[in-house]
Amino acid sequence: MPAIDLSIDELLTTTRNVRKRLDLERPVEREVVEECLDLALQAPNGSNQQTWEWMVIDDPETRRQLAEINRDALAHFMGLLDEKPELLSGGDIGRNERMGQISESVYFLIEHMAQVPVLVIPLMRGKVERQNVFYQASQWGSILPAAWGFMLALRSRGLGSALTTLHLWKEEQAAEVLGIPYADYTQAGLFPVAYTKGLDFRPAQRRPAREVMHWNAWQEKRP
Ligand SMILES: Cc1cc2nc3c(=O)[nH]c(=O)nc-3n(C[C@H](O)[C@H](O)[C@H](O)COP(=O)(O)O)c2cc1C
Repeated sequence: MPAIDLSIDELLTTTRNVRKRLDLERPVEREVVEECLDLALQAPNGSNQQTWEWMVIDDPETRRQLAEINRDALAHFMGLLDEKPELLSGGDIGRNERMGQISESVYFLIEHMAQVPVLVIPLMRGKVERQNVFYQASQWGSILPAAWGFMLALRSRGLGSALTTLHLWKEEQAAEVLGIPYADYTQAGLFPVAYTKGLDFRPAQRRPAREVMHWNAWQEKRP
């Protein structure tokens, strides 16, 4: 599958979380998913142990079940938010003027998850609950660079994805549906994969590096 014409900087600045512009009608070939994953697996990972496994789901009934679990996860999360609205502060929803637009897009994806041609769930071996920061950083740090590489590779070939973690509120149910040994593996998210409607994506609104950089010491923010 030939790559689309993007410079490296364009690839890095225009790989978005795509939801409403996922093409739900166009099938995704297994070969392109495998090719993108091969590229992604060049990512760094702790001691090069490669303790990752990747669930790739294109079976319609299994996608339907995962979409339902994702919806249940939303209901569960919303229930928690009613009790503790502070759960969202500093998380996905932050100082973002685009938040209204983003939530609409998040709901769109939740509603259409079953129609997304391919769903990908990266797995890391081991459980992170109650582990120390070193262990947690090593685990997450050994899967998320590859997941991001996967998103970049997809974009380079005219496909898109979105890093989502919502379904992890119901991780065990998803493990059951997919036959994952839940006691031994942690799911790192749920990535819908589809061709995108159009290829023109823009750089995101982000705080500039200058605003978040600390040269040499915490107090010395801006030289
Ligand atoms: C850790 C993490 C968890 C996320 N979880 C979800 C999610 O459950 N559902 C979703 O639609 N987007 C999710 N997102 C996507 C963010 O909302 C997204 O990065 C943000 O909207 C910015 O999008 P952009 O990169 O296209 O600008 C998540 C992103 C991250 C980094």
